Amino acid sequence: MQLGPSRLLPPPLLLLLLLAAALGLLPCGAALEPISVGIAIGAASALTGYLSSPRFYCAFVECCPGEQDRPNGTALQLNLDKKLFGQHLAKEVVLKAVTGFINNPSPKKPLALSLHGWAGTGKNFVSQIIAENMHRAGLKSKYVHLFLSTLHFPHDHQVNLYKDQLQKWIRGNVSACAKSVFIFDEMDKLHPGLIDAIKPFLDYYEQIDGISYRRAIFIFLSNAGGDLITKVALDFWRNGRGREEMQLKDLEPVLSVGVFNNKNSGLWHSSLIDRNLIDYFVPFLPLEYKHVKMCIRAEIVSRGNPVDETVVQKVADEMTFFPKDERIYSDKGCKTVQTKLDFF
Ligand SMILES: *[C@@H]1O[C@H](CO)[C@@H](O)[C@H](O)[C@H]1NC(C)=O
Ligand SMILES: *[C@@H]1O[C@H](CO)[C@@H](O)[C@H](O)[C@H]1NC(C)=O
Repeated sequence: MQLGPSRLLPPPLLLLLLLAAALGLLPCGAALEPISVGIAIGAASALTGYLSSPRFYCAFVECCPGEQDRPNGTALQLNLDKKLFGQHLAKEVVLKAVTGFINNPSPKKPLALSLHGWAGTGKNFVSQIIAENMHRAGLKSKYVHLFLSTLHFPHDHQVNLYKDQLQKWIRGNVSACAKSVFIFDEMDKLHPGLIDAIKPFLDYYEQIDGISYRRAIFIFLSNAGGDLITKVALDFWRNGRGREEMQLKDLEPVLSVGVFNNKNSGLWHSSLIDRNLIDYFVPFLPLEYKHVKMCIRAEIVSRGNPVDETVVQKVADEMTFFPKDERIYSDKGCKTVQTKLDFF
């Protein structure tokens, strides 16, 4: 358990006060009979025991989940089913990866997921859902850390400073909570030096300087491979095959080779892939018209409004689709749905 119950109420202090009162040492302490003092002390210690118990404490203050606390796999599945559209492969991989990891009594390394696909296809969404599954407060949890390359590590010339800082953060946070979640957005824009800085934490070490990283989760988001994924999806479509027929094996080789060989992908420079430090590549397919409509409906419902199909249609028709002739996939996925909806 990662908490100090004594932080809430120090029981010894309370008992001392009671004893002092009983012995008449305190000015206001009336002389009490020994029996009632005994009862009072008993009741007080029972109360402090409850007040300082993890269950009471953690109802008000966020606690790091203990070894026995397992996130709810059913809830994860329900959330993915309800909120993620058109991503049968991503859903399958994430569910398998996360439930496998949380049910593994002794993982050999932290879980490292690499999410790939165009903007607006649901990568951020999925990382948010995973974070919420691990820690109730999701992205707001103090055990979930989101890094944006362009925001947190903007200047190439300061890469050595960032490296030290990042390693210190990861070490500090994992030693405070083994089940910390780290999300790196815009991986393609992350300096290779920083990827190397993360690498040791992803490896198969039992401990580094007395800290085990094997319960942590690292999620990497990037657009890298998005074009390759789209190409495979388009080939499927042009050959008259259903989107849901697409299997992981159709994408995985393309994806890891593609990401690996693309100089701009950010993963290129590093040995993350060589060394098999990434456990799962998660492909996000480009979204079709019908998926965009699903996003719009979900957004309307989440705002507490009844779904009006004419509005759904109007917002969906505002989006642009590619390739030029066939107009199958949404350029921005569901990304601009929220702002477009504000209009109506
Ligand atoms: C897991 O989540 C499901 C669906 O939300 C719920 O019905 C079930 O009671 C949960 N299980 C536990 C152990 O909390
Ligand atoms: C944990 O990470 C955050 C950045 O997300 C950082 O500000 C904080 O200092 C880290 N905590 C420790 C104890 O290193």
